[in-house]
Amino acid sequence: MTDCPFIPPKPKPLPHKANIYQRLRYGLRSGLSLFLGGSYTDLGVGRHKVPQLPDFRVREMFTVRDPDLIREVLVKRSEEFPKSGLMDEMLHELIGYSIFVSNGEVWKRQRRIIDPALEGARVKEVFQRMADAVEGCMERFAAHAARPDSATAPIDVDIEMTHFTADVIFRTIFSEPMTAEGARRIFAAFEIFQHHAYAHGMLRLTRFPVNLLPGAFRARKAAREIRDVLRGPIQRRLALIERGEEPPRDILYSLMTTPDPASGTCFDPDELLDQVSMLFLAGHETSAAGLAWTLYLIANCPHIQDRMRAEVDAVLGDRAAEFGDMKRLELIRDTFREGLRLYPPVPFVSRDATRDEKMKNRNVHEGDVVFVAPWLMQRHQVLWDRPDEFDPDRFGTEAGRESARCAYMPFSMGPRVCPGAAFALQEATLFLAELVRRFEVSPMPGHTPDPIARLTLRSSNGVPLIVQPRKRPLPQASEPP
Ligand code: HEM
Repeated sequence: MTDCPFIPPKPKPLPHKANIYQRLRYGLRSGLSLFLGGSYTDLGVGRHKVPQLPDFRVREMFTVRDPDLIREVLVKRSEEFPKSGLMDEMLHELIGYSIFVSNGEVWKRQRRIIDPALEGARVKEVFQRMADAVEGCMERFAAHAARPDSATAPIDVDIEMTHFTADVIFRTIFSEPMTAEGARRIFAAFEIFQHHAYAHGMLRLTRFPVNLLPGAFRARKAAREIRDVLRGPIQRRLALIERGEEPPRDILYSLMTTPDPASGTCFDPDELLDQVSMLFLAGHETSAAGLAWTLYLIANCPHIQDRMRAEVDAVLGDRAAEFGDMKRLELIRDTFREGLRLYPPVPFVSRDATRDEKMKNRNVHEGDVVFVAPWLMQRHQVLWDRPDEFDPDRFGTEAGRESARCAYMPFSMGPRVCPGAAFALQEATLFLAELVRRFEVSPMPGHTPDPIARLTLRSSNGVPLIVQPRKRPLPQASEPP
């Protein structure tokens, strides 16, 4: 077990003088290499060149590293930097032209309908459904921890967190737990989709005809499989309404019944399936990645786990958690926020430039892709004190708050800021509180996760952790933390 200060692993950097083959291989394996090729110490605009078929004409892409310029792109002039078509190309088969990839008036209407489904009051309403999913996961952990070999047999928390967050989404959107059969079909299909969607997205930058690749057929089939599973609860809900029965007041209810205040229209059934598929993807994959990395971090810092446990004991005692408790679990929330800083589930967001302009010393042209990388900004040597170190307490210091104000962006910012942020923070706080209350997690000896960015930032070799029942005596267990 590692003593703090704990400096967790970063992706392997692109070799300084990488040749074109190495760059292509890195790019296809993980887009993070694009950013690791750049510097963490300057506030400029990085340039990346991608040769395009058929004549190998170079296409330029840019990474903005200055917090003020990032605000220009994402907040002040967001209409001039719409969501990049790259995302639409990568995800279209799965989520259609839904809110995550749409632009202009289509996006505005979608956002007006979706925002109320995820607003604070709704997040409060779904608290108990989240708590039920947490309980399901705790039972799976308890069954594992009760095995005689649990001190040496790890749980792959990457997979387990995916199961948990998908279950949360199912229960909160549809008021149904995820069935074992649904989970099996979705996870297998999503693995295939994610693998191909990312590599194909990178290849599309070179104008490679990816639709002809066998993987493109497999990705399409996988997307159909996921949409079929998600179509089931929507059809059951429509049948229930048809029979005149009262539907549960969940997220699906809000999406089906909230008219756009501007046009008065609701989502039609096809749009509904696109939006639900998008919420399923955006809502479970990101939270799963963030939680798996946070578990890895606390597994390596037992004294932080002890403090989290003391906080839960002081706030909850032995009663069940309630909605009002969430804001009092400050250390737990800051630990998750620190996990999102070191391993942002969405490591970069992409926008398209709509006109020629000069950004710092770079000439950006209409159609060029402009990246903002939470990964890079949140580990920037100039903007953060000890940027690579795991330290949940940093958010309580003036310096940490100042760094966060200018360079903390796991949920992006501006009009396209993640509308699920409050949902995700509540889900993670509740999960981590219940976990440390009942279990102790420790790292798997000899295993170091290898961060890799595909659609989200995951570990290419999993995150196996040892999970055992709580036994460590608490320091000053009876006193408030
Ligand atoms: C830790 C968990 C999460 C993280 C780190 C995260 C991060 C992000 C980021 C960075 C974006 C913006 C992408 C861009 O600007 O290109 C985004 C968008 C979005 N997220 Fe999340 N997200 C999380 C959880 C959720 C959850 C739980 C939901 C829903 C239940 C959700 C729904 C959405 C939606 C609908 C959008 C699209 C918003 C738009 O384009 O207008 N997210 N998320």
